[in-house]
Amino acid sequence: MQIEDFFTSKVVVITGASGFIGSHLSERLLAAGNRVIGVDNFITGNRKNTEHLAQNPHWELFEQDICDTQGLNALLDKILSKYDRIDMVLHFASPASPPGYQRHPRETYLVNSLATDSLLAWLRGHSPESRFLFAGTSEAYGNPQVHPQPETYWGNVNPNGPRSCYDEAKRLGETICGVYDRDFGLDTRIVRIFNTYGPRMDLADGRILPQFIQEIRRGQPLTVYGDGSQTRSYCFIDDLVEAVLRLAASPDGAGQTVNCGNPGEYTVLQTAQICNQVAGRAAEMIEFRPLPTDDPLRRRPDITKARQLLSWEPKVAFADGLRVMMTHYGIDVKN
Ligand SMILES: NC(=O)c1ccc[n+]([C@@H]2O[C@H](COP(=O)([O-])OP(=O)(O)OC[C@H]3O[C@@H](n4cnc5c(N)ncnc54)[C@H](O)[C@@H]3O)[C@@H](O)[C@H]2O)c1
Repeated sequence: MQIEDFFTSKVVVITGASGFIGSHLSERLLAAGNRVIGVDNFITGNRKNTEHLAQNPHWELFEQDICDTQGLNALLDKILSKYDRIDMVLHFASPASPPGYQRHPRETYLVNSLATDSLLAWLRGHSPESRFLFAGTSEAYGNPQVHPQPETYWGNVNPNGPRSCYDEAKRLGETICGVYDRDFGLDTRIVRIFNTYGPRMDLADGRILPQFIQEIRRGQPLTVYGDGSQTRSYCFIDDLVEAVLRLAASPDGAGQTVNCGNPGEYTVLQTAQICNQVAGRAAEMIEFRPLPTDDPLRRRPDITKARQLLSWEPKVAFADGLRVMMTHYGIDVKN
């Protein structure tokens, strides 16, 4: 299945369009000849991420907080009356990094719960044929007791801890999608995104690769929490965008929840060593600090379902993706 089998001359609304993932989705859909309407309040996103799209006649960007339901409804009314239809909503608005959602805990649980419901309620009333895709997360699995995590695993999540405003709100967002799909007949799809990296990530957002890149740019040792034996998986943004749009385009995607990520598993210590090597530094240029509360110990997607349903698997090797990302941030990389 090709993305273009569905996405040709479609009208697509993307919430969080000026964020890291939203900007890449926008770019890819515009390149495939669709009309893309971005909505963002820039709480964690950056206008610069989509500035290069400004000249494209098929691109429009609206500044709107989608938790303001009245404002959201008025905007959706305006889009519908201008284009006569909305084929798809990709709901990607949400702070995504621990410092981002801990700085904005209420905004985070509202955008994943209230705004998910508001978007779906509006679609139900005005455009019930539209498809809706929700950006879920591997954090729905919490600190998993099953490894790797298949979609059928229900997770091990702390309902009231420093990460709960994000993890539990994403889980509620999934519940809301399920209700509209099962009970109200809408077409909703959920992608559970695992750690994704690439150009346009906010380097100040505290996630592991942005943090390492910041430290490399400053000539500092890389900070590893705990003994670095906790594992992570890293999916390059181009692979993730391909997976998300395949799920969105799939004729069999309605009501489905699909893990998308790269199953390659690295310890945090290995990650630091690879980053140092790609940047031409001594692999051991590392400093250890105590492990924060609720830091997940293991995270690795089981992507069997994505392979079967979407004929998708990630293609970009970790070191190759790192080279692209580091080059974007002005680091002289080594082959
Ligand atoms: N990056 C990852 O590795 C990852 C992993 C799992 C899930 N996700 C999910 O993917 C989505 C995008 O993540 P990202 O990494 O691009 O984050 P990001 O912070 O770069 O992008 C999110 C965008 O949403 C916007 N936004 C937030 N609240 C809003 C509101 N109320 N109204 C309008 N716009 C709002 C922000 O300003 C930002 O531009 C999020 O839903 C996130 O939870 C990302």
